[in-house]
Parts: sequence; C-alpha cells; structure tokens
Amino acid sequence: MTEKVKESIIIIMEKLLEIKNLNLFFGENQALYDVNLILEKGKMHALAGESGCGKTMTAMSVMRLLPKSAVIKSGEVIFKGDNILYYTENQMRELRGNRIALIPQDPMTSLNPLYTVGNQLIEAIRAHSKVSHHQARRKAKEVLDMVKMPDIDNKLSAYPHELSGGMKQRIIIAMALGTNAELIIADEPTTALDVTIQKQIMDLLDEIKKELGTTILLISHDLALVSNYADSISVMYSGHIVEEAEAEEFFKNPLHPYSRALLNSLPTRNPMLKLKTIEGTPPSIQEKISGCKFHPRCDLCVSNLCTKEQPVLKEKTLKHYSACLVK
Ligand SMILES: Nc1ncnc2c1ncn2[C@@H]1O[C@H](COP(=O)(O)OP(=O)(O)OP(=O)(O)O)[C@@H](O)[C@H]1O
Ligand code: SF4
Ligand SMILES: [Mg+2]
Repeated sequence: MTEKVKESIIIIMEKLLEIKNLNLFFGENQALYDVNLILEKGKMHALAGESGCGKTMTAMSVMRLLPKSAVIKSGEVIFKGDNILYYTENQMRELRGNRIALIPQDPMTSLNPLYTVGNQLIEAIRAHSKVSHHQARRKAKEVLDMVKMPDIDNKLSAYPHELSGGMKQRIIIAMALGTNAELIIADEPTTALDVTIQKQIMDLLDEIKKELGTTILLISHDLALVSNYADSISVMYSGHIVEEAEAEEFFKNPLHPYSRALLNSLPTRNPMLKLKTIEGTPPSIQEKISGCKFHPRCDLCVSNLCTKEQPVLKEKTLKHYSACLVK
C-alpha cells in the first residue's frame, strides 16, 4: 500500500480521544510506560490484559480520578483537540458530567445508597442541562426505556440495594445516556454479572455505539467478550501497550507472544482440549525487570536479546502494531 493510500485512511478516521506517551508513577515505581491510545469516534476500543497491568490507571488518567499518590510525570490526554491534563478541576467536573461517563466495575461506587434511583437519575440530568424537574423525569423515563429497564415507574422509586447487579449497571448506563456522554469508559462492566446478564449489558453498549455514535473504551481481561464486541484492541502487559490492531485482524493474526498466550488460555468449546495457562504471574510495579518485561514468561525469549533490550511498539503489518524483538 502506498504512503498516499495510508494517509487517506488516517484522515477518514476521526479521533475523539488520544493518549500520548503517558507515564504514571506511584513514588519511584512506574505503573504506566509511554502509553499511547487512540479512540476513534463511534467505535468500541478494548483495553485488555491481566490484573494489575494498568488498565484502570489508564482510564482514571483520562477521568483525572487517580489515587492521590499517583503522579503523571509526562504525557498528554487529548480530548477533541484539548489536552485535558491542563484542565482545572471545574473544567474536569464539567467534562466528566457531560461528555465522558465512567461505568465502573462495581456500580455501587457510582450510586448513592441513600437516594432513590429516580432521584439520582433526575439530579444527574438536571446537573447537565437546564430543564425542569418534570422534564428531567420525562428524560429519565426515556433513558430507562432505552436501557430496556422493566417496570420503569417502580424502578424510579427504588433504592439501589433493591436492584440486582445487572439492573444497577443499566442505571449507570442510563445516567451516561441522560447526560449525552460522547465517550463511555466501561471498566470491566460485566465482571460481577452472570453470563446471560453480561451479554445483555454488552449488547446494550453495542446498540448505544451503533445508534447514537457513542465512543466506548471497553476495559476487560476477557478476550472472548472483547472478540464479540470490540472494533479494535490494545493489549497491555505490566504498564506497556504490547499490541494494537483492528479486532478482526488481531483475533485472526495475533502477533505478540503475550497476546498469543492469552488467546491460548481461553476456554474452548471442546472439553478434550487442555487449556494452556501462562506460566508465572505478571510482575508487580516494584519489580525491576531488564529488557522485555514479558521475558520471564515468554516461550520465544532469546536470552541475550530479550533480557537486555526494551522492545517498542512497531507497525508490523498495516495498522497492526506489536512490541516484540523476535516476532
Ligand atoms: N493506590 C495505589 N497505590 C500504589 N499502587 C497502585 C495503586 N493503585 C494501583 N496501583 C498499581 O498500579 C498498577 C496498575 O493498576 P490498575 O488498577 O490500573 O490495574 P488493572 O489492569 O486495572 O488491574 P485489574 O484487572 O485487577 O483491575 C498495579 O500494579 C497496581 O498495583
Ligand atoms: S521481546 Fe523477547 S521476551 Fe519479549 S515478547 Fe518478544 S520474544 Fe518474548
Ligand atoms: Mg482495573
């Protein structure tokens, strides 16, 4: 493909958010290393990887809701052309309420147990648009209908503890819709839910993306789920993005040894096939590992190369990036 064709492909895609070379520290320990991520408007991008690799810290850097001890030492988070790392807290509050919504793993962290669902939904809507209580209530019913909430009038007067996990997650999604968020960050939105409800919530996010053009960052350690819904994917390992591609291409042709190992460890429909789990565990951020961080667990490790040199993300085939010195 010529440079000109490549250029036109890049121009067609519209970036909503871009993270550039983000480096995040807890004291001396680095949690994110030069993280780069592009979210295209109206697409679902997945951020995948094992526990502790930095998925939530990446999301929280965008929301600017990091733990107090976390420090962003360098990097940019560009939302619609603005570096929001320079935003004041007031500007951030406005952004979080209106344009970027977070669906956390545990919905109770976003719902106040002391107020009814209706109250919280109406307040969220009124905080972001100048409408009367009556109009906000009508909008609340509309968004609850959009998230297919059964028995809406009763739900409006229910307290969060009276709802199931799946229903609470629908309420959070309804809140995002009520404020017309352009970007929804869904951090393991279905981990606590059983499989049927998991599918309903993911189908709902997919519908929102397709019908409203909402951009979604799906954070998940579950590659099977990602393969069913995401348009593109970044795989993280120990604070580094190690692979990035369109989802279809990634699942057809995974390049990085870590991605391959993750995919090999997925349960298959054939019970006769034994699962190949990845040996060992990911390092903690206190552990200093020379060269490629994955080398102690990698089948392809070339000892005198991989233990010395730090691989960087490179385009191996068109729009398919991998950070490996060997493959
Ligand atoms: N408050 C904190 N203080 C010190 N280190 C932290 C803190 N919060 C997170 N970390 C570290 O930062 C790294 C990235 O954490 P993060 O929560 O982003 O992981 P994750 O990929 O979201 O994992 P999980 O899948 O378990 O949610 C981890 O190694 C974690 O130990
Ligand atoms: S750089 Fe070496 S150790 Fe790292 S993933 Fe590639 S082959 Fe494995
Ligand atoms: Mg997390």
